[in-house]
Amino acid sequence: DMGGHDTYMHKEIHEQADAVDRALRGRIDDRFSTVHLGGLNLDARDARAVRRVKILGCGTSYHAGQIGAQMIEELARIPADAEPASEFRYRNPVVDPDTLYIAVSQSGETYDVLAAVQELKRKGARVLGLVNVVGSAIARETDGGIYVHAGPEVCVVSTKCFTNMVVSFGLLALHLGRTRDLSVADGKRIIEGLRKLPGQIEEILANEEQIEKLAGEYADAKSMMFIGRVRGYPVAREASLKLKEVSYIHAEAYPASELKHGPLALIEPAMPTVAIVPDDELLEKNRAALEEIKARSGRILAVAHQEQEKADHTIVVPKNEDELDPILMGIPLQLFAYYTAKAMGRDIDKPRNLAKSVTVE
Ligand code: F6R
Repeated sequence: DMGGHDTYMHKEIHEQADAVDRALRGRIDDRFSTVHLGGLNLDARDARAVRRVKILGCGTSYHAGQIGAQMIEELARIPADAEPASEFRYRNPVVDPDTLYIAVSQSGETYDVLAAVQELKRKGARVLGLVNVVGSAIARETDGGIYVHAGPEVCVVSTKCFTNMVVSFGLLALHLGRTRDLSVADGKRIIEGLRKLPGQIEEILANEEQIEKLAGEYADAKSMMFIGRVRGYPVAREASLKLKEVSYIHAEAYPASELKHGPLALIEPAMPTVAIVPDDELLEKNRAALEEIKARSGRILAVAHQEQEKADHTIVVPKNEDELDPILMGIPLQLFAYYTAKAMGRDIDKPRNLAKSVTVE
């Protein structure tokens, strides 16, 4: 039942405020400025013993993991990174007992992720799951974890589950941080930021008409560039994937800092750029990248916390805490992908050649 929406993608994009609310419910502890994650199976001593975090997932879940790794580094000061599970399992990885491994999956059935978990367990590692489907294979194989509580996701491309995964990583980062050096004040600040998310998601979705119009303006592009820096880079990667999947427009994502090392050669009026420009310590650097693109007559659509003078268009999103901004900045670009695909008459819920869960190698 699509409840008045024309596709599940549209419905699921609009379910995100409620989904995030579910992910937060019952988990926040105001007294100690932390969160409780029931199924984690990691006591305070275990949490303090973690020396590294390695996050494994595929596709959109891998992108959520990239944002998660940054949150864990920022809030818990534990070195963390994400890698496609499909690569990890084939490269005879060094499995280290002081590393906490986290497998991220919407379906909980993706074969490459499951195989990585099994290989890790065989080598004696501790693996947690960050999974949507309760009781799925990955949820069962892991030593504990976090359910992301996005609810059923029917559209082949992931939207609300991505957002809830990133929120869940925020909760985990806060939890790990508070067992280590994160201050009470910072814990409070992050909790306040988390609580603002559902309302801010509603604000973004209320801007749907502007986004629909913008999608119409860029739908003639043969190819699009997505750029971001540090917190914005995985957001750019995910937005680029979303556009490719549903519209079949070629898109690629680069760190804004890498532009001048090659991809700037592609910039011309027929190659528009979508730029993620958060109002954080890198704002001036990002503005400089916009200037470089403008100097090559590139069209720019910015997603930012305030109108960007160098951009042809800006989608303004509400500001949260710097560490949590990536949760919100991709949401207008889900709608952008949806409306672009719609203008092109694509089969939005079932893009060609793709399946909802990839249970084969
Ligand atoms: C993208 C998408 C895929 C999945 C990937 C992993 O919109 O849906 O990239 O994210 O196949 O699937 P899960 O999360 O079920 O392991």
